[in-house]
Amino acid sequence: MITAPREHWGSRTGFMLAAIGSAVGLGNMWRFSYLAAENGGAAFVLLYLAMTAGVALPVLLAELMLGRGAQQGPLRALVHFGGARWRPLGWLFVGAGFLILSYYGVIAGWTLRYTAEAIWHGFPADAAAHFAQISAGPVAVAWHLGFLALTAGIVAGGIQRGIERASVVLMPLLFAILAGLAVYAATVPGAGTGYAYYLQTDFGELLSLTVLRDAAGQAFFSLSLGMGAMMTYASYLRRDADLPDEAVVIALSDFAVAFVAGLVVFPLLFALGLQQDVGASTIGALFITLPHAFAEMGAAGRAVGLLFFAALLVGALTSAISLLEVVVSSAIDRGWSRPVATLGLGGAVGITGIAAALDTAVLGVMDQIAGNVLLILGGLAIALFVGWSMRDPEAELAAGAGRVHWFFLWRGLLRFVVPAVLAVVLASAIPAALQSLRALFD
Ligand code: TRP
Repeated sequence: MITAPREHWGSRTGFMLAAIGSAVGLGNMWRFSYLAAENGGAAFVLLYLAMTAGVALPVLLAELMLGRGAQQGPLRALVHFGGARWRPLGWLFVGAGFLILSYYGVIAGWTLRYTAEAIWHGFPADAAAHFAQISAGPVAVAWHLGFLALTAGIVAGGIQRGIERASVVLMPLLFAILAGLAVYAATVPGAGTGYAYYLQTDFGELLSLTVLRDAAGQAFFSLSLGMGAMMTYASYLRRDADLPDEAVVIALSDFAVAFVAGLVVFPLLFALGLQQDVGASTIGALFITLPHAFAEMGAAGRAVGLLFFAALLVGALTSAISLLEVVVSSAIDRGWSRPVATLGLGGAVGITGIAAALDTAVLGVMDQIAGNVLLILGGLAIALFVGWSMRDPEAELAAGAGRVHWFFLWRGLLRFVVPAVLAVVLASAIPAALQSLRALFD
């Protein structure tokens, strides 16, 4: 089989912005805020940081190392190092990416629509009724497909001319918008109470198992781990690229965006007395509570809301790009051309997502299965593979960095801490996911 030579990133910055773009998405800008508010505020933020450093960061570094070394997509990366018996894991990765994108596209479709509506006519007074109208049904299918077309258009451009170019333009835009919004939010009356609610500290919460699980799950989802997305991006690095510093910068940036998003969201909600709605921790809350706030704020609300949803759209787009690239790069490794893979597989993702676009209950179950179960399973497998099975990961890691510091700490975390934490998460996530799946068919 003749395949074209592998593409590579044009610059280190380009790779970093693309990887941060994958990490920063719908997960940071809402999920993190309400989890923090519900689970002990500043105490949760600290626990989340600990989970990021102790559980997510080791897996991130493992994924980057596997991708860079294999110079292949996730379908083949583990086979490259561990032989054919790891092939099923590759299919798990690609399947999870396919599934996640199919419902992520629906949520992103809502985001696209809200952004467009903010330009056309602002935010409707009755946000809940509006959301009920647009979140499911043929209109939701249309916006979902529109968003995926945008995503596919960028992925079809390839690594340098598509993904890298988009990330280099879009990510600084996202940072700038978010920083601007945080400064604005600090000036609204009631900002102080918003911050206090966000960061009120309840260390008693730290002892509960659900909080531990939420923090670990969020760290994983937010960093795009467990299904080969970071592996795929690293496979377009050159073999001599440095990795440990990159992993730390990616994780810190992802945390910073999540944290700052909380600094935007809570003052706005408190200025309008909408804080009791925050507890409604469904995916819809983002599309009801905040638009409600924007509608009440009048002309300023329209501008602020437009900027907020534009930033959210950018985050969703750069994340969706990475999900589609997982599937597309695997097909390219098997001899498909990029345009055919993008069109064919992007179309298949779009069709699968129709089920989620017609019924938000289906969307919720897909999210639970993919996010809470498949990703954690994938992360567990990666930790076990690099921690116990792979031959000489130290030498592989050193390929770019020269000398590796902290190797024993890293491997120790992968061997013991990561599997232990993820096993606890799985033990509670699997029964919950099965239960919601059953409820769907009742
Ligand atoms: N990390 C993204 C977010 O926070 C979502 C995402 C993109 C993702 N690619 C992923 C999650 C791969 C899990 C795996 O919204």
